[in-house]
Amino acid sequence: MSGRHQIRIGQGWDVHRIVSGRPLIIGGITIPWDAGLEGHSDADVLSHAITDAILGAVGLGDIGMHFPDTDPRWKGADSLVFLRHVCELAGEAGYVVVNVDSTVILERPKLKDFRLPIRESLAKTMRVELGQVSVKFKTAERVGPVGEGKSAESQAVVLLERI
Ligand code: C5P
Ligand code: MG
Repeated sequence: MSGRHQIRIGQGWDVHRIVSGRPLIIGGITIPWDAGLEGHSDADVLSHAITDAILGAVGLGDIGMHFPDTDPRWKGADSLVFLRHVCELAGEAGYVVVNVDSTVILERPKLKDFRLPIRESLAKTMRVELGQVSVKFKTAERVGPVGEGKSAESQAVVLLERI
C-alpha cells in the first residue's frame, strides 16, 4: 500500500452472537462469565474490529479475506494471531500504529475491571505502548439484540503513520 500521505485512518466493526458453552474472550482476555461468543475462531469481537481497522487503514481488504472462516486452520484460533499478523502487514507497507481507540458494546457482564489487562494484551500483541491503546465499554441500554443480551459488538478506529 502506498500513497504519498504520512498518516492513514482505519475503521472496524464486528458482532458475535452470545451463546452458552463458549468462553467470553475480549482483547485476548478470558472474562469469567456463564456465556461466551459464537464464532469459527475464538470470536474475540474486539480483536476482530481492531484487525479490520488496521487492514482498512492500509487498504488491504478485511479480516475474512486474510483469515476465511471456512478455513479449518482458523477454527478456534487465537484472534491475537490475526491482530499481530495485520500489524506486521502494516509494517511491511511502511506504517506503524499511532493509536487505537475502540468500544465494546455488551450488556453484561461489566468489563471495566478488565480494562487494563485487555489494553495490555492488545498493546503487547500490536507491539505498541499501553498509552497508544484505548478500550471503552458501553451497554446498549437494553435495546436491540445487544441490549437483549443476544450479541456483542465492537467498533475501532486506528491511526497509522508512515515510518
Ligand atoms: O452503557 P452505559 O453508558 O450505561 O455504560 C456506563 C459505563 O459502564 C461505561 O462507561 C463503562 O465504564 C461501564 N461498562 C462496563 N461494561 C459493560 C458496559 C458498560 O464496564 N459491558
Ligand atoms: Mg468476528
